[in-house]
Amino acid sequence: MIIEKTEFRIADPADRLGILALHRRAFGREDEARLVDTLTDAACATVSMVARIDGMIVGHVMLSELQGPERSLALAPLGVDPDWRDFQIGTELTRRAISVARKDGWLCVFVQGDPVYYGRFGFKKGVAEGVSCDRQGPHFMALELENGALNGYRGEIRYPDAFGAA
Ligand SMILES: CC(C)(COP(=O)(O)OP(=O)(O)OC[C@H]1O[C@@H](n2cnc3c(N)ncnc32)[C@H](O)[C@@H]1OP(=O)(O)O)[C@@H](O)C(=O)NCCC(=O)NCCS
Repeated sequence: MIIEKTEFRIADPADRLGILALHRRAFGREDEARLVDTLTDAACATVSMVARIDGMIVGHVMLSELQGPERSLALAPLGVDPDWRDFQIGTELTRRAISVARKDGWLCVFVQGDPVYYGRFGFKKGVAEGVSCDRQGPHFMALELENGALNGYRGEIRYPDAFGAA
């Protein structure tokens, strides 16, 4: 099976150009590649994970620190090469990145995306209810990495500046 021959690991500096090329292919535009490029240069804590098949990067997800509830991350972008979709690569990549984030002591993750897709990881709209954000669309969701991490949190969160620039 494809997923069994897929290697998942934390991105290293040598992956940078491959990651940018992957996002250009995945999204068919420059914005997400530019976002990753800017986040990589910024002094911003991230969890950046790649999926590789035969040494080629076929997927990438990035989580980056945002301002708001203690130890919070924004998940974006997530992209899988169009030639390698529907093999569960995006799902496994995201699961593993979330698991690394949890082990590294992060407490919650925010995402703006498809509720069905992100629901599989436990993201819920209700959890993000007390939070306001300038990037907030109709499907703004959060995942607590520790039970109750967002309990009672009311206030704004701010995505890294790179999101505004991208
Ligand atoms: C979304 C994306 C990362 C999924 O990667 P993938 O490796 O094909 O995903 P998986 O194989 O793990 O999961 C496939 C599931 O994703 C669903 N899916 C595919 N594209 C989707 C999209 N744009 N939005 C929501 N769900 C999507 C499929 O319908 C499938 O659902 P199922 O498991 O219920 O059958 C990939 O299609 C992609 O890179 N899309 C372009 C970039 C993008 O839109 N990224 C943001 C994601 S919200």
